[in-house]
Amino acid sequence: MPSLFDPIKLGAVEAPNRVLMAPLTRGRATREHVPTELMKTYYSQRAGAGLILTEATGISQQGLGWPYAPGLWSEEQVEAWKPIVGAVHDAGGRIFAQLWHMGRVVHSSLGGAQPVSSSATTAPHKAHTYEGRQPYEEARPLRLDEIPDLIGDYERAAANARRAGFDGVQIHAANGYLIDQFLRDGANFRDDDYGGSIENRTRLLRQVTQAVADTVGADRTAVRLSPNGDSQGVNDSDPFTLFPAAAAVLSEIGIAFLELREPTHDGTFGKAEVDPVHPAIRKAFDGPLVLNSDYTLARAQAALDADEADAITFGRPFLANPDLVERLRRAAPLNPDVMATWYSQGPEGYIDYPALEPAAA
Ligand SMILES: Cc1cc2nc3c(=O)[nH]c(=O)nc-3n(C[C@H](O)[C@H](O)[C@H](O)COP(=O)(O)O)c2cc1C
Repeated sequence: MPSLFDPIKLGAVEAPNRVLMAPLTRGRATREHVPTELMKTYYSQRAGAGLILTEATGISQQGLGWPYAPGLWSEEQVEAWKPIVGAVHDAGGRIFAQLWHMGRVVHSSLGGAQPVSSSATTAPHKAHTYEGRQPYEEARPLRLDEIPDLIGDYERAAANARRAGFDGVQIHAANGYLIDQFLRDGANFRDDDYGGSIENRTRLLRQVTQAVADTVGADRTAVRLSPNGDSQGVNDSDPFTLFPAAAAVLSEIGIAFLELREPTHDGTFGKAEVDPVHPAIRKAFDGPLVLNSDYTLARAQAALDADEADAITFGRPFLANPDLVERLRRAAPLNPDVMATWYSQGPEGYIDYPALEPAAA
């Protein structure tokens, strides 16, 4: 069985190791959602990852509801991403942009209009806005005649990502955001071609993924799902049927890899009430499978040894350890992450986590 430090081919990308960086929203772009110089330092510090998945990046103003998160819909955003991607490549790394439409969890003060979703529902809890936390608003169901435009927004963002130099894109279909709001029957109450049966609920995922694959190549298209349990009020009555079916759809399209965020029952960033679905998804999906949530060096290597996964994404460990691959290789201690600076603006808790001293020759 491979080691975490063995190379792996992820579609068109040759990753030198299997320690990948999970997508992490950090709120260091501008209020207009334009990437900044600070982000260049942050991402290039982490170029040792087998592959970096960027923070979730808005495909459109409608889909972006997180303060100071970046987007990929305008020329200004594309131009601002170019030096960031260039710096990662110069440092020897590879980087995919995570494409995001938040659906019902976009607050109108950011999205500019009532949020959209599969159905008329309201997310639980409160939205992050420039005016602090505010209650979520009821979403309006997307009309059938709006879906081609939505798919067009994904295509434009994917094409923009390639123009900015990204090696590929990851479609964010996890964590209770728009595509997940279509996938799971706890949020999707439609009675048209996008609701009801599993074939219908996976239709948007299929169409978006096919469109993005047609734009940038299936071998540069990845997808993230979160099958086991509630995410921002989105849940499914039968994830063990739904998610292997969704994985089979993605397998047919031939994407570069599938990443699953599956918290454990005692997870430290979400606790799942449902067992992991990844063993069933492994059987349904032919390409590389990447697992995430609460992995340590030992647990990650054990997952590879058991052939449960081909690679692992690390979130908080990468946030706090720019040289995570080297630290894991040397079994060195890890810096703990500081939650207070997860989403704060500025360099503190962003680009100042220390790297190890170089190993003695
Ligand atoms: C600060 C922070 C920001 C996150 N932002 C995103 C994001 O933009 N997109 C996403 O898919 N997941 C996001 N996540 C979830 C992580 O990708 C990952 O699933 C989670 O941290 C569990 O992995 P870990 O135990 O290795 O940290 C975020 C998590 C944290 C802690």
